[in-house]
Formats: sequence, structure tokens, C-alpha cells
Amino acid sequence: MSERTPMIEMRSVSKHFGSVIALSDISMKVCSGEVMCLLGDNGAGKSTLIKTLSGVHSPSQGEMYLDGKPVHFKSPAYALDAGIATVFQDLAMIPLMSITRNFFMGREPTVGWGPFKRIDWKYADRVAKEEMAKIGIDVRDPSQAVGTLSGGERQCVAIARAVYFGAKVLILDEPTSALGVKQASVVLRYIAKAKADGLAVIFITHNVHHAYPVADAFTLLSRGGSLGTFRKADITREEVLNMMAGGAELESLDAELAEFQRSDTERKASRESAVSRKETSSASGK
Ligand SMILES: Nc1ncnc2c1ncn2[C@@H]1O[C@H](COP(=O)(O)OP(=O)(O)OP(=O)(O)O)[C@@H](O)[C@H]1O
Ligand SMILES: [Mg+2]
Repeated sequence: MSERTPMIEMRSVSKHFGSVIALSDISMKVCSGEVMCLLGDNGAGKSTLIKTLSGVHSPSQGEMYLDGKPVHFKSPAYALDAGIATVFQDLAMIPLMSITRNFFMGREPTVGWGPFKRIDWKYADRVAKEEMAKIGIDVRDPSQAVGTLSGGERQCVAIARAVYFGAKVLILDEPTSALGVKQASVVLRYIAKAKADGLAVIFITHNVHHAYPVADAFTLLSRGGSLGTFRKADITREEVLNMMAGGAELESLDAELAEFQRSDTERKASRESAVSRKETSSASGK
């Protein structure tokens, strides 16, 4: 597997914002048909990493390669044209606009020539409906506002759009964090489908139950640095969980909870003995 040319690769990438070092010497690669899960605490640099890959930030140092060729993106539009589609943490959608408009957003199909050129809404509506149906979401009316969809369905519009426009790399920044179990599973199933279609997927989540079933590998970030990449075969769900929450913190949390439990038990015991003392004294007073 390591012999294949990665679809997307970072070599020794750093990103500084003034004196803040948001990323330091990160190397990472994802092949087509693979899901890489990015883990790390709040502020570890996950969003900065994917923003660098998707042209929002340019790296302060290091190189990036798409399908083996070096790339420099001047803006997210360049990255998108090259085949890197990103669903950002703060989802870029316009709630009052229709599903179709959000699906095409700036790439509307047209009919006619010259001054008679206009957007082909009939065709656009049909494509949006068909593409959503492919992922199991039945849109009765594609002219309905995106704001009326559920959170999971909205994420799926963004992902379906990426796949429809021929993305090679799909990047998702916490797509399931605000979703219920059922909706999260719709998004996860779609990630699995994108992988089966041969996309390279980078997926950020804080939820081990979302990460573990779909990921092929995990990269752990801590304070802007990489603590390494682990293949799924080499790591258990518990180990991933420890890496996500920080093993040390979990241990101290365990100790605190045990302390709560101990003082609870003591309080309960003293309350019970007080009650029984009262009962005995009132019984003897009779
Ligand atoms: N535009 C910016 N200017 C200055 N500092 C920034 C900027 N963007 C990010 N940072 C800093 O870089 C660090 C990493 O932030 P980032 O958003 O990448 O973290 P994250 O891992 O995505 O966290 P979370 O899990 O909370 O989303 C933070 O300390 C943040 O304050
Ligand atoms: Mg983030």
C-alpha cells in the first residue's frame, strides 16, 4: 500500500500566525480509497491543517502534493478546481437558498448562447434530486430551502456536491459533531461510499465511535505537532480513545470520579445511621 502514489501528501508543513505556531513540521499522506482520521484536542491544529490543504491558508514552510505533483493554492477555489473538496467546520451553505442552488453554488449548468445564455434550472433540479437520492435522501422538492433540511441532510448536500463535481480528495471537519445517532450514521455511510468510489478522505472527529468504523488510519496532532500515524490494524478502539481524550486526563478523571463516589458512599452511610438512630430513639421514647 505504501508503494502507491498518495493522492494527497504534506511534507514537513508548518504554519505560523505571527508568533503562534499552529502547525509544526507535519508530514501526512492519504491514498485514493483511504480514510484518514485526524485526532487531537481543541486547538491541536486540525482545522488549520485542513485549511492549509484546501487553500484557505498557504503553508509557512513545507510542500504539498496532489497525486504526486507539487501544488500551491492561492485560494480555496484553486484547491476545489484541482479536486480537493472541503466541508468546513462552519458549514458554508446559505440556508435561505434552495437545495439546487446550494448544490451547484457558482457552477450552475447553462443553456443557450451569448445573450440568450441562462441557467438550466430544470436540469439542475433533476441532478440535485438524483444525486441526493443516490445517498438515500429523498428530496421531494429541490427548490425547497436548505434551511428546512436536517443537519445530517445538509452535510450530505455538501458531500454529494463534492463527489458530483469529481473531487479526488474529500475533507470533512467534524461533520458529525452536532448530529444525532441516526443522522451521523447517514454521514458515516456516505464517507464509506466516497472511499469505495476511490476518493481520499480526511475526516476530523472527537467521537471514537464515529472514527473507528470508517477510518483506515489515524493521525494524532498535539499542539501543532504530529505524534504519528497509526494504521487501524495496529491500534485498538481503546487506544484511539485514549489518544483522543489524552490518557493522562482520563486517568485523573477516573481518580476524581472515584473520590466523588467514595464521599457519596460516606454521606449515604452517615445519613442512614442518623436515620436509624432517630428511629431507635423515637421507638424507645414510646
Ligand atoms: N487565523 C488564525 N490566526 C491566529 N491563530 C490561529 C488562527 N487560526 C488558528 N489559530 C490558532 O492555531 C491553533 C490551532 O487551531 P485549530 O483551529 O487548527 O485547532 P483545532 O484542532 O481545529 O481545534 P478544535 O478541535 O477546537 O476545532 C489555535 O491555538 C488557534 O488559536
Ligand atoms: Mg477545528
